[in-house]
Amino acid sequence: MTDLTILHETADDAAAIDRLHERTFGPGRYAKTAYRIREDVAHQLELSFTARIGTLLVGSVRLSPVRIGKTAALLLGPLTVEPPFRERGIGQALIDRALAEAKSKGHRLVLLVGDEPYYAKGGFKRIAKGQVTMPGPVDPARLLVAELAPGAFDGVSGRIDPDWDAA
Ligand SMILES: CC(C)(COP(=O)(O)OP(=O)(O)OC[C@H]1O[C@@H](n2cnc3c(N)ncnc32)[C@H](O)[C@@H]1OP(=O)(O)O)[C@@H](O)C(=O)NCCC(=O)NCCS
Repeated sequence: MTDLTILHETADDAAAIDRLHERTFGPGRYAKTAYRIREDVAHQLELSFTARIGTLLVGSVRLSPVRIGKTAALLLGPLTVEPPFRERGIGQALIDRALAEAKSKGHRLVLLVGDEPYYAKGGFKRIAKGQVTMPGPVDPARLLVAELAPGAFDGVSGRIDPDWDAA
């Protein structure tokens, strides 16, 4: 899409992204385990992006610092694209940009809770059942990881919690 731009999120985007999340996920989003982790640790603006067509914000992806046991990682989400602008590659463009930026800054692992058939295109794989746990209920089939460095997930296990040191 020629007029699509992917930009770093700024503080000025917060209200528009909140409205997008409200429209997409509704009030039920507050009860999700991934949301509860994100509530405790701010997403990193330098690793979070908006998609715009002209000046219109049409999508957003955020990354937040977490730990898996003692290992540093990033939690991806929410990823949202405005319904009229879906199925045009904007979601994939946001994922690609966020992962490339994270990799360039030396991050090695990105986790998320989501649909494997969608995120597999971005390099995410299902985590073996029991290898990691979340501080709340989550469908293990939806717990996915992408390695930004070869072997980065080898031997990693434990509970996913906010990374207070990186916050
Ligand atoms: C998921 C979402 C971000 C995808 O955005 P998008 O810009 O439409 O995605 P893309 O254009 O990059 O990819 C579209 C492709 O993914 C497929 N796809 C979309 N959602 C999917 C899902 N949940 N499972 C499997 N495939 C999916 C589409 O069918 C399409 O396939 P095609 O390329 O073969 O036609 C968007 O649908 C959305 O905001 N959904 C609601 C919020 C949500 O579920 N977010 C993810 C969880 S945090």
